[in-house]
Amino acid sequence: MTSPDLRTLPKAELHLHIEGTLEPELAFALAERNGVTLPFADVDDLRRRYDFEDLQSFLDLYYACMAVLRTEQDFTDLATAYLERAAADGVRHVEMFFDPQVHAVNGVPVDVVIDGLRAGLDIGRERFGITGGLIVCIVRDHPVASAEALLDEIAPRAHELLGIGLDSAEVGYPPSLFEGVFRRAAELGLRRVAHAGEEAPAAYVWEALRLLEVERVDHGIRSIDDPELLAHLAEHRVALTVCPLSNVRLRAVPELSAHPLRELVDAGVVVTINSDDPSYFGGYIGDNYAAVASLGFDTAELAQLAANSIEASFADAGRKADLL
Ligand code: ADE
Ligand code: ZN
Repeated sequence: MTSPDLRTLPKAELHLHIEGTLEPELAFALAERNGVTLPFADVDDLRRRYDFEDLQSFLDLYYACMAVLRTEQDFTDLATAYLERAAADGVRHVEMFFDPQVHAVNGVPVDVVIDGLRAGLDIGRERFGITGGLIVCIVRDHPVASAEALLDEIAPRAHELLGIGLDSAEVGYPPSLFEGVFRRAAELGLRRVAHAGEEAPAAYVWEALRLLEVERVDHGIRSIDDPELLAHLAEHRVALTVCPLSNVRLRAVPELSAHPLRELVDAGVVVTINSDDPSYFGGYIGDNYAAVASLGFDTAELAQLAANSIEASFADAGRKADLL
């Protein structure tokens, strides 16, 4: 390929929190529709607060904004808006995270969230040809009992979900806390992924691999500190879902030029590029690929990263063959 358009290179998005696609304009529109008062004056005031110090400072704002999501239609509208943007960036398959425990605190049952998001995915398939599924995330700084109760609730419709993930505040909430939850999720037929090594050390990545038996690691950038771990990831082709702009905005790296992406790729790790929470971090997946290009990745390397995303997806073999 000589000069691929980064935005149309066929790709899968494997690390995307659908709540992180909530643009300020939609947040205010939904607040009005649902009679919810946001603790921000207006769209500009909200956007001005997107200057984060770390993961926790982002999560505080992110969870506050999630209060506007109340109805099935809200979740469908949110997913549809994301899928339209993703299609323009060449996304052909998406595995979408969502946080039911936070919606439950807002009084929204998990069934409402799943129904709304599935309706959005149906629209995405019909309108934009995007395939995909839902990954239910365990919010790791909520009690483990709350994660177990969530599994009880979703068990009857586990076949409508693709997988289970683990997100939210990382340091102090190691994967080991959720070993039983992930074992049960596997028994329900759910694929397993977890955020690990975003802010916390490489030891969290080892725990996610050994105790949760994850098939991909979300972020995983701290793996760079452990050569044995890098060799393990490369040998077993465990993909990392890396989110460069997120890592810069949440100060997981001091600046883009200090991102360990090149070292991860050179170590033979299957790296994929994703947007995490694009509304909050200054760019969708196409902007993340553009950031990677600015780090000196050439055309063939960018095409390989896109191919990695399809290979590392949970799409069936036929769909993968179509996309590669
Ligand atoms: N939830 C949404 N975005 C997240 C991130 N980058 N890390 C952990 N939890 C999250
Ligand atoms: Zn994430």
